[in-house]
Amino acid sequence: MKKAFITGANKSIGLETARQLLQQGFSVYLGSRNLENGQKAVEQLKAEGWIDVEAVQIDVADDDSVKNARTEIGKKTDVLDVLINNAGITGVKLDENGNLIPQTAESTSIDVFKEVYETNVYGVLRVTQAFLDLLKKSDEPRIVMVSSSQGSITLHSDPGYNYKYYHHKGVVYLSSKSALNMVTVNLAYELRNTNFKINAVSPGFTKTDLNFNHGTGTVEDAGKRIVKYALVGNDGPTGKFFCEETNPETGEIPW
Ligand SMILES: NC(=O)c1ccc[n+]([C@@H]2O[C@H](COP(=O)([O-])OP(=O)(O)OC[C@H]3O[C@@H](n4cnc5c(N)ncnc54)[C@H](OP(=O)(O)O)[C@@H]3O)[C@@H](O)[C@H]2O)c1
Repeated sequence: MKKAFITGANKSIGLETARQLLQQGFSVYLGSRNLENGQKAVEQLKAEGWIDVEAVQIDVADDDSVKNARTEIGKKTDVLDVLINNAGITGVKLDENGNLIPQTAESTSIDVFKEVYETNVYGVLRVTQAFLDLLKKSDEPRIVMVSSSQGSITLHSDPGYNYKYYHHKGVVYLSSKSALNMVTVNLAYELRNTNFKINAVSPGFTKTDLNFNHGTGTVEDAGKRIVKYALVGNDGPTGKFFCEETNPETGEIPW
């Protein structure tokens, strides 16, 4: 049975991705920053009939927590087939009237950048580096970096693309996903002569807590878009960027 580890899987897109990987016959380690929340999610999945799932505490922004998660999973398996780097935050705050405070390059505090990069960029690197040894033991290792089309510098810099979210700027979150994209390109290049398939996937604008439930898509569609790249064959793409919301035809979008 293939094994997958998903960060930030106690709710929303991560939880749905866990459900869909279970449906595909995977055994799933469900990463959760708060173990109790992770266990509740596992109970929910078990109540639906999925038994090969267990919660693992992991705060991707914390070195010790990531090391402990690696140790815990290492006690259960020698091989990991799929890593989904899903945990992510925007750093967006609301004002006293409940309106979004825009993230601007002109004035947003460096502390907000540090907070968001710690999870969205360093967190992904921390987790990926910690689990690469287990992934290297798989015949078909796959890493999905859950990015955002919002991280595409091309779409966000060229009005000619008619990108739906062109005017939805927000420098902290967007640049964190651009940085994640470049991490993806580098890692895929470094592992190009192996069976690894490592892609950045945008789930699309999805109704979750991340966007105060303003998203228009469903977690089911978001999960499908992620799982597709967890399941690609050895002839599949690597080092690419996909967003089916933006490009329903091939899914591939420019960096
Ligand atoms: N929703 C969208 O429209 C959209 C669009 C494009 C990309 N994405 C990306 O999709 C991914 C999932 O987003 P979502 O919409 O499902 O967000 P969400 O509802 O806010 O859920 C985020 C998940 O990440 C976890 N998390 C946050 N910081 C963490 C940390 N330091 N360590 C471990 N876990 C952490 C959260 O845990 P807690 O429950 O403990 O907070 C939660 O489980 C993110 O990477 C996001 O950037 C989302």
